[in-house]
Amino acid sequence: MTSPATPPARYTAVAMALHWIIALALIWQLTLGFSLEGLPRAEKGAANALHKSLGITILLLSLARLGWRLTHRPPPLPADLPGWERFMAGLTHWGFYAIMIGAPLGGWAMSSASTRARPIEVWGAPWPSLPLPKSDALAGQLYLGHAAAGYIAVALIALHIGAVVKHMFVDDNDVLWRMVPGLKPPPPS
Ligand code: HEM
Repeated sequence: MTSPATPPARYTAVAMALHWIIALALIWQLTLGFSLEGLPRAEKGAANALHKSLGITILLLSLARLGWRLTHRPPPLPADLPGWERFMAGLTHWGFYAIMIGAPLGGWAMSSASTRARPIEVWGAPWPSLPLPKSDALAGQLYLGHAAAGYIAVALIALHIGAVVKHMFVDDNDVLWRMVPGLKPPPPS
């Protein structure tokens, strides 16, 4: 476990890599997920299979990221950040972990319970179903939770990007450099 006496100024390379890979995968996954219903039958099977592969990949990467987060000290928030913004930052960041892990688990559970879904494959390899009773009523309930998780993810992304824009253009504290490889730290004010 890494817990230095002086907190680091920016995220480590592992944290940055996981952040940007998961961010891109999540945006792709949400775009794909919300378009599944309207797809023609001929395209739906392949899109569904891609959605499941991407979802399980996001789940595994997010578990790795949570493991990293629980064993490493992140850079502290700017010292002058008001309490409500600290609260919102914590809510958004932990909300992301809950969604990045909860949404794929819910999708996996839904596909496992459905009597109509094809056996799950991840990038072409068989993936086990969760031990749930086969019930379309249960799958329907899980679908509602899964769709809600999709909307919550969109809201979290909007809040997160809104906060970054505020830090950059209103507060001028450039927290973005901590998470972007190659960006230089802001000059001391
Ligand atoms: C981060 C991971 C995931 C996100 C953000 C996500 C998001 C979504 C969204 C937004 C929808 C559309 C909901 C609607 O109709 O309003 C959806 C549908 C669906 N998802 Fe996911 N999902 C994820 C992972 C998974 C996984 C791992 C599986 C299964 C192994 C899965 C299976 C499904 C299925 C079967 C549907 C319904 C497709 C249809 O309309 O036939 N999802 N997902």
